[in-house]
Amino acid sequence: MKDGYLKVEQSPALAGEVELVGAKNAVLVIIASLVVTAGKSVLHNVPLSADVFEMIELLRHLGAVIFFNTEKHELLVDTTTLHSWQVSSVLMQKTRASILIMGGLLARFGKARVGLPGGDAIGKRPIDYHLKNFAKMGVVIHHEADYLCADVERLVAARIVLEYPSVGATENIIMAATRAQGATKIINAACEPEVLDLIACLTKMGAKITVEAPATITVEGVDVLNPIEHTIMFDRLEAGSLLIAAAATGGEVFIPDADAGVLDVFLLKLEEMGHTITIGENGKGIHLKSTQTPRAVSLKTGPYPGFPTDLQPPMMALQCFASGTSVIEETVFENRFHHVHELIKMGASIHIEHNKAIITGVERLYGTHVVAPDIRASTALVIAGLVAHGTTTVSGLSHWKRGYEALEKKLQHLGANVVVHEAQNEKIMVFDMVRQAHHERD
Ligand code: UD1
Repeated sequence: MKDGYLKVEQSPALAGEVELVGAKNAVLVIIASLVVTAGKSVLHNVPLSADVFEMIELLRHLGAVIFFNTEKHELLVDTTTLHSWQVSSVLMQKTRASILIMGGLLARFGKARVGLPGGDAIGKRPIDYHLKNFAKMGVVIHHEADYLCADVERLVAARIVLEYPSVGATENIIMAATRAQGATKIINAACEPEVLDLIACLTKMGAKITVEAPATITVEGVDVLNPIEHTIMFDRLEAGSLLIAAAATGGEVFIPDADAGVLDVFLLKLEEMGHTITIGENGKGIHLKSTQTPRAVSLKTGPYPGFPTDLQPPMMALQCFASGTSVIEETVFENRFHHVHELIKMGASIHIEHNKAIITGVERLYGTHVVAPDIRASTALVIAGLVAHGTTTVSGLSHWKRGYEALEKKLQHLGANVVVHEAQNEKIMVFDMVRQAHHERD
């Protein structure tokens, strides 16, 4: 296979305790946000996932000096020598999160010339909310072939109403607004925990940001933002995936790092299936003891604090063998059912009606060759493979690696039979990234 793949065998009930890394969706935007400062910042709990290496590359390209201590998960970023506001199409195409560089570049230079972003094909994923609202802040934007050119003399505060609480648009506007003249208000802002982690970071830098119910974020522009030291929040999506994997195999798992307060609706749905969830003092630490007779549950994805769309694919794998019929309504992305066809190949009974998947529980799934088209689909298919009879091979290893730092090792630690088979070029790529990270120190 050209891309690497994961080989999964039917596994015993997963059991044990497992640690989490920092959240991909928090660290990417936080690394991007460092361009608003000029100086040396330190980030802790940085996951070694491929998208993180891509964001590091992007900042290096702009002139930042970066050292990644991969053993300590510690990232040192010096933005003193940042000299460019241009990002090539090739770099931008590597991830969707690359678009998050725009807000910081506008805050720092009043300019950005960037290619169009790439990322998972889970829908159209336009960036109109980002661009429309930059324009409201005085930014003049035009397209030059496949580049976006943005220019502003002085960012001005604006009252911004988001028609949908887009995570990326909220983050980009917040970053730009930190240096705008006046107070920018974002109505119907995304308030995902990762957005709040970005706000925590910017606040440490000296930004003046308040969050009010129900979903209004106000950013008062300041003249100077200082470098910071920050620990990235835990990855709630990694936590959710591990809980689902344990539940699928009829196992029992404890995740001491997980804060239950940011997984409420997800945990509610696991309980409705029949699994027993115990939460530690002050909401920290989640223990799951699974039922041997899971019941079907229906759910609807939504912006935080709703059911996270990123946990929809793995949750669907779990619903495939629950007794009864579950309905999943996907409201965040219009095309996030690519994993359905692959689950059906494994024996699942699912049909799609518009943005709804109707899942009828089956006795068993069967291992076969499946293709993971995006990060969370790869999680779903690996989890299905843990319970399927026989061997499942999941190609699309690059997606798995983009989203997680060696999640297969955590699954193995809990007793899962899952191994990674690297494609030769991937082995070289990861080796190069780690080597380069170390080389920077010398
Ligand atoms: C982020 C997360 C992703 C998660 C998603 C929703 C990161 C790096 N990625 O993605 O894992 O699944 O939030 O929780 O943090 N939209 C528009 N116009 C825009 C922007 C968005 O129509 O300008 C639409 C999108 O097509 C999508 C919906 O809004 O249907 C939500 O997207 P958004 O919240 O922006 O997701 P991302 O920031 O891309």
